[in-house]
Amino acid sequence: MIFASTMTGQTRQYADGGVKLTSENIDEVMNAMTLEEKAQMLVGGGMDAFVGSGPMLGHQKALVAGAAGITVAIPRLGIPATVLCDGPAGVHIDPRREGDSKTYYATGFPIGTCLASTWNTELVEQVGRAIGNETHEYGCDVILGPGMNLHRNPLCGRNFEYYSEDPIVTGVIGTAMVKGIQSQGVGVSVKHFAVNSQETTRTKVDERVSQRALRELYLKGFEITVRQSDPWTVMSSYNKVNGVYTQGYKELLTTILRDEWGFKGIVMTDWIGKRADLPVRQVVQAGNDLMMPGYAAQAEDVVADVKAGLLDIKDVDRCVRRMLEYVVKTPRFKQYAYSKPDLEAHAAVTRQSATEGMVLLRNEKIKVDGEDAAVSVLPFSKNIKTVALFGVNSYDFFSGGLGSGCVNVPYVVNVLQGLENVGIKTTPLLTELYQNYINYARLKLKADKNPMMWFLDAGQPKLDEIEISERCVAHEVAEADAAIITIGRQAGEGMDRKIDDEFNLSQMEQDMIFRVSSQFHAAGKPVIVIINSGSVMETCSWRDRVDAILCVWQPGEEGGNSVADVLTGKANPSGRLTMTWPVAAADHPSTRNFPQDMDMYSYRETKLWGREIPNEDYTNHEEDIYVGYRYFDTFKREVAYPFGYGLSYTTFAFDNLKVKKTKGDDIEVSITVRNTGDVSGKQVAQVYVSAPQGRIVKPAQELKAFAKTRNLQPGESETLTMLIKQRDLASFDEEHSQWLVEPGTYTIRVGSSSRDIHATASAKVGEYTEKVHNVMAPKQPLNLMK
Ligand code: BGC
Repeated sequence: MIFASTMTGQTRQYADGGVKLTSENIDEVMNAMTLEEKAQMLVGGGMDAFVGSGPMLGHQKALVAGAAGITVAIPRLGIPATVLCDGPAGVHIDPRREGDSKTYYATGFPIGTCLASTWNTELVEQVGRAIGNETHEYGCDVILGPGMNLHRNPLCGRNFEYYSEDPIVTGVIGTAMVKGIQSQGVGVSVKHFAVNSQETTRTKVDERVSQRALRELYLKGFEITVRQSDPWTVMSSYNKVNGVYTQGYKELLTTILRDEWGFKGIVMTDWIGKRADLPVRQVVQAGNDLMMPGYAAQAEDVVADVKAGLLDIKDVDRCVRRMLEYVVKTPRFKQYAYSKPDLEAHAAVTRQSATEGMVLLRNEKIKVDGEDAAVSVLPFSKNIKTVALFGVNSYDFFSGGLGSGCVNVPYVVNVLQGLENVGIKTTPLLTELYQNYINYARLKLKADKNPMMWFLDAGQPKLDEIEISERCVAHEVAEADAAIITIGRQAGEGMDRKIDDEFNLSQMEQDMIFRVSSQFHAAGKPVIVIINSGSVMETCSWRDRVDAILCVWQPGEEGGNSVADVLTGKANPSGRLTMTWPVAAADHPSTRNFPQDMDMYSYRETKLWGREIPNEDYTNHEEDIYVGYRYFDTFKREVAYPFGYGLSYTTFAFDNLKVKKTKGDDIEVSITVRNTGDVSGKQVAQVYVSAPQGRIVKPAQELKAFAKTRNLQPGESETLTMLIKQRDLASFDEEHSQWLVEPGTYTIRVGSSSRDIHATASAKVGEYTEKVHNVMAPKQPLNLMK
C-alpha cells in the first residue's frame, strides 16, 4: 500500500484501492468503515501509552511522552492517532523522551484563578496563544482545559484550576482563553461539564441542584464560552447531576449543549474506564463521542449492542462523524512539522500575566525610620535593602497546583530569587536555615511516599512549616529592614481542603505571624505577608497584625520575579478578586453541604443501613443560586474581602456614567475612569445590575459586564464602554422552562468591587422570554434556601 498524496481535500484512491480520510470525504470513509472500526473511533487510549489489550484495539504507542491520552489511529483509512495533553496552566507532558537528548519542558503559566483575577481578556488571550503554541510545537492536538467549574465553596481542591464564583467572569475569561489557544491551530477541551464542584468521591457523587441554579450558574459559563468561541471539545465530568452521570446524560450533552447552544465539536469523558453502573450504549446515545482513556471492553460493548439491536447504528455514526470532523482539523492529520516553542518569550508572558493577577489585600501606612511621614508599606521604600524572609514557601514557592493540572516546568523563580534579582538581600542565617530544611523535607517526603497519593508526584506537595522561635526573630530584627512571611497553601485533584490548618492558619503559622509582627513592629519595621495559594483562606484573625498582604496565587514559573515587580512598584497591582473571601469557611451556605475531612480514597460502602451518605453519595445544593457574593450581598453578611476587591498604589475616580439603549432593549454602559493618584495604574470597572421586584426573587445584584483600563498615567482617563444584552438580564423561570426578563427599571451600579459602588443609573427594560427545554430537573426535594 501506501500513498503519496497531499491533503488537498480530494478523494484519494490508493494502490490498495482503499479510501483515505480527507477533510471532504468523511461520508465515504464512514461507508468504508467496519462496525469494529467505528467502535474503535469512540474509544481512546490513556497515558500509559497503550490503548488496551483487547482484540480490537491492539497496542499503540503514545506519541508524546506524558500526554494524557490519544485517539485511535486506523491506518487503513488514513486516520491518524491524535494526542490530548493536560492543562490548563500550560502543557503537561514529560520533559524528556526516550532516546531523545532534547528536553520538552513547558512554560508554567499562572493558575486559572490568578489569570481570571487580571480581569484582562486581552492578556488572557495572549497567555492562551502561548499555551496553544506550546501545545502545537510539542506535538499535541488538544489541551485539556480550560477548567470552567465554579468556585461553589472555597474548600474545593481544584478551585485553583477554575476562574471564579461568578459565571460571567468564568465565561468571559474562558472565551478569551479558548480563542487564544485555538488561534494556534490546536483544540481545547472545556472541562468538567458540569457541576464538578467537589473532589471528594468525584467519580460517583450525585450533585443535586435546581434547574435555575444549573442554568444561571453552573452551566452559564460553559454556555458563554461555547456560544462565543467554538471549542473543539468539551469534557464531561466524573460526577452525576440530578441522578445521571454527565457522560451518559443526553439532556445535558445533546439537548442543552448541542441543540440549544449549537455546539459542533466532540464531547469526551473525563478519565475513567468502563463503569459498572453505566452502560456504554447510554454514553454513545447521550452524545458523548469519545470515551477516555478507553478500554477494549467499551468498544466490544458498542459492537455487541449494535448487533443485538440495543444501540442504533445512527447513534454510533453520529459520534463517528464528529470524531472524523475533529481529526481532520488536527495538526497531526495535517502532518505538521513540529519545531520548538519560544520558551523565553513565553516566560515574559507568564511574568506579566502573573503580576497583573496578584491582588493587594492590605497596605497600611506606617512611619518607617528615615521617612518623615507615615507612608504605605508597599511599594517598598528605597530604605528596604535587607529583608528577613520567613515561611517555607518563600523558598519552596508554589508555581502551580497538584494533579493533572500541574506543569513540568524548567524552573521556578522563588521569592528569594525574585528579591535577589532586584537587588534586595535576605538575612543569611534564616535563609540558610530554610534552604537546609527544605532539602531535608523533600527527601523525607520521598522516603515516606504513599503510593496511593499519585498526585503528590504531579506538582509540588506542601512541606510542613517549621517553628520560628522568639529568639530566632530577635536575631533577625536586628539585621533586617522588613520581614516578609510567605504563607503557602497547596491543593489539587482528588482531594478537597480541610478547614483546620488549610483554610485556617495552623498553630505554627499563627505563632510565626504573631512573633514576627510583634518584634518587627516594636522595632518600627514593617511586616508583609505573601499568600501563595490557589484559593481562598482565612485572614480576619491575623490581618491586623501585619502591614500588607499580597495574594500572589500560584503564579507560574516566573512567580518570584512577578512578586518582586509588585513589591518594588515596578508593577502596580491591578488584580481583583474573582471570589468572595469570607470571614470563616462556614459562612458560605454551601459549607453545610460540602464534604469535610473525607478524601477520595475513603470510599465507604454506600447505602449503609439503607441510607446514602450525604456529600459522599450525593450533595444537595441547598444554597441554590446563593453562591459567593450572590449570597453575601443579598443577605448582607460581613466578609473579609468582597468579590471584585483589590487595592492599587494609585487612586481612581469613576465619572460620567452613561446608560443608553442600543438595539431593542440592549444596554450600553459607559464610564470614565480617571487616575487621581501619583503613579500609573490600571483599574477594573465592574457593572452590577439590580433587578426590579418581580415574580422571581433575585439576588441583590449580579455582575453583568466588566472592562479594564489600559495603564493610565497620573491624571489620565479612559472611557470604557460595555454592552449588556437584554437576554443577559434574564433569570431562569423554572415554572415555564424559559429565560425571563421581567419588565421594569433596572439599576446599573458601577463599582470597583461588589461592595464599593461609585456610580449608579437606571434603565427601563421590557419583557423578554426565551423558551428552552424542560430538562435536568432534580429528582428529590432540595430544601432550597430562600
Ligand atoms: C482529570 C481531568 C484531566 C484528566 C486527564 C482527570 O483525572 O479530572 O481534568 O484532564 O484526568 O489527565
